[in-house]
Amino acid sequence: MGTSASASHTFNFPGVYEVSLSVTDEQGLSELTQTSIQVGNAPPEVAITIEGNTSFYWEDTPLRYIVDVNDKEDGQLYEGIKAERVQFQIEPIYGQDLMQAQMGHQTADNLSGLARGEQLISASDCKNCHAINKQINGPSYMDIAQRYKDDSQTVKILANKVIQGGGGNWGEKAMAAHPQLTEKEAEAMITYILSVNDAPTAIEGLPLDGIYWAKTDPQKKRKPQYVLSARFTDSGNGPIESISSSAQHILLYPQVEVDRSANLPEKARKENREDGRFVLLEEGQEMDLGAVDATMVQELKIRLWSETSAKLSLEWGEMQKEIAVESNDVIQELSLAIDPMEGKMPLTIKVQDAASSVWFDWIRFEKQNSSLLSQNIR
Ligand code: HEC
Repeated sequence: MGTSASASHTFNFPGVYEVSLSVTDEQGLSELTQTSIQVGNAPPEVAITIEGNTSFYWEDTPLRYIVDVNDKEDGQLYEGIKAERVQFQIEPIYGQDLMQAQMGHQTADNLSGLARGEQLISASDCKNCHAINKQINGPSYMDIAQRYKDDSQTVKILANKVIQGGGGNWGEKAMAAHPQLTEKEAEAMITYILSVNDAPTAIEGLPLDGIYWAKTDPQKKRKPQYVLSARFTDSGNGPIESISSSAQHILLYPQVEVDRSANLPEKARKENREDGRFVLLEEGQEMDLGAVDATMVQELKIRLWSETSAKLSLEWGEMQKEIAVESNDVIQELSLAIDPMEGKMPLTIKVQDAASSVWFDWIRFEKQNSSLLSQNIR
């Protein structure tokens, strides 16, 4: 067998269409699939722009951001779209390490929880049958969130139902199976669905165009990432359900732990030493930090320890530097001046000329001093 075919049709008017597709195989068995499709509402575009460095925040530096929204049917922000309709928040996140997401290895796997579930849902066919606040083929997400408790057991059961498909809980209609989803993906989707009625807990009510002073708690060793997120739900178009879109931007604390944040050679050795977790790189091995924004960065500090003297070579975009490491058998902070550069560029550090090897703890990105900076801001 293995016959495949595709059907296509162009809808010229906005509306909700019930589509049925009947397939007949060589044995004459036929099957009818029904679904409803919404036509005529373009999804809104939401963007967050950060001025200055887009990878890091520094505590004594104002963070300048602008949120923008554009929608084919509703208009632009301030012209058709009132600022109150845009949800914007800045949230410090501890724990979860979002470095990979920020540094250019962005996949759905390492976006933060809810944003990831939402992204997976918008990339899937769920919206053909579900909407946030209105029943289409299946129940609205708000009704689902209302009915179920948000615990891990429920998340598993519902995720399984999305993968397997089925009916019986909400009426006559059944949900199609989604065998292409992994359990993890389906669970992220459900976690998002069960959260739609929750009030966000982060800092809200901020202007859409503003300055923010990120802070960290000096008592805590672990520093937060700051996540800026904006979301807008359009008004729909006649019978067509509204669509919401969101944007997220993550800013990292400028001191980056090598063991958690860099791409390292496979099976790189790690060891706790004094107050840090160190990673061993041998001659010829390198760490890859992904795309890192160099804007405003004036100096790199690298905390390391080496048994012998060694040479490091650092590449950041066009810039190449050699760094000599002296072995004095103590943990040291090397300092390296950075040429003024702008934008995100790949950053790698490689160990060269080492009879033995170098242990790395963290890398700190120091910015230009504040007086210089305030001139730039104006
Ligand atoms: C072909 C239409 C259709 C598609 C596509 C669809 N659903 Fe459903 N969904 C339904 C129907 C119908 C129900 C109600 C089933 C029932 O009564 O148990 C439902 C129920 C659900 C429920 C509640 C299940 C329960 O037992 O209470 C969740 C959660 C859900 N869908 C999530 C999703 C997600 C996530 C996607 C996208 C991956 C999706 N659905 C795609 C039609 C659909």
